[in-house]
Amino acid sequence: MEDLTPKNLPPVDYDRVQHDVYARGRALPPAAIQAWMESFARHLPARRPLVGIDLGSGTGRFTPSLAETFGGPVYGVEPAGGMRRAAEAEARHARVTYLAGEAAAIPLPDAYADFVLMFLSFHHVRDRAAAAGEIARVLKPGGRLILRSTFRERIPDHWWRGYFPGSWAVEEAMFPTEAEARAVFEASGFTTEESVQMLIPFEGDLATAVERLKLRAVSVFEHMTPQELDEGFARLDAALAAGTIEQKPTTGDFIVFAKPSQEPAIA
Ligand SMILES: C[S@@+](CC[C@H](N)C(=O)[O-])C[C@H]1O[C@@H](n2cnc3c(N)ncnc32)[C@H](O)[C@@H]1O
Repeated sequence: MEDLTPKNLPPVDYDRVQHDVYARGRALPPAAIQAWMESFARHLPARRPLVGIDLGSGTGRFTPSLAETFGGPVYGVEPAGGMRRAAEAEARHARVTYLAGEAAAIPLPDAYADFVLMFLSFHHVRDRAAAAGEIARVLKPGGRLILRSTFRERIPDHWWRGYFPGSWAVEEAMFPTEAEARAVFEASGFTTEESVQMLIPFEGDLATAVERLKLRAVSVFEHMTPQELDEGFARLDAALAAGTIEQKPTTGDFIVFAKPSQEPAIA
């Protein structure tokens, strides 16, 4: 299977950047986390508890809530030590364990989990075919993968986007199309259950949103020049002072994949 990661974009090394600011820069209010949990619950079995894996769990933005919502245990699997340490310090939960690992090497047994969530981590994975095989291995028959990602044909028009016009092209290079993502998992035996597009309201107040954006805990910024970023933030500051920033909602995609409940019969 072809590696879809654009060769011109170097990987984001979260041990070098963002691990100390990600939790603050990307924090979501409880109501927003709850809305994601309710959306995911609509695509997972109603029985509890469910064993989960938060694959690419970062600073544990969602991991404790997954354990609360679905019962757990939930394993946050994360390759960057800095992100994992932030999660262990700030996102502890009795039924959550953070583990060193990555999508193509998940340190958990075969047929172990009811669900895997990848929340904005898939575009960082280099060997996606290996990752799909590994996710198929750790899921129970009938288990679900929830792939929360951006797709190239639907780059979201975030409230800050217009101030950083170069970010469109970078995100088009960063993210796979939906068809490319589906092909990766379907090649490992998954079936596509549903493709969901969410409308995400603007959260909080503008001054705080600008301050948090300035922490630069957004991977697209890693692929832009210092000059582009400085100019973008200068435009944003001017717009904030003039009161012209539009507090618009954004969009977010996820795809639900199922591992078949039975191995296909041998012909
Ligand atoms: C944008 S952050 C998302 C973190 C978390 N899921 C969230 O939504 O807050 C992307 C995360 O994916 C992790 N990551 C990078 N390569 C990975 C891989 N091959 N397998 C799993 N996670 C990976 C990064 O270290 C980083 O913590």
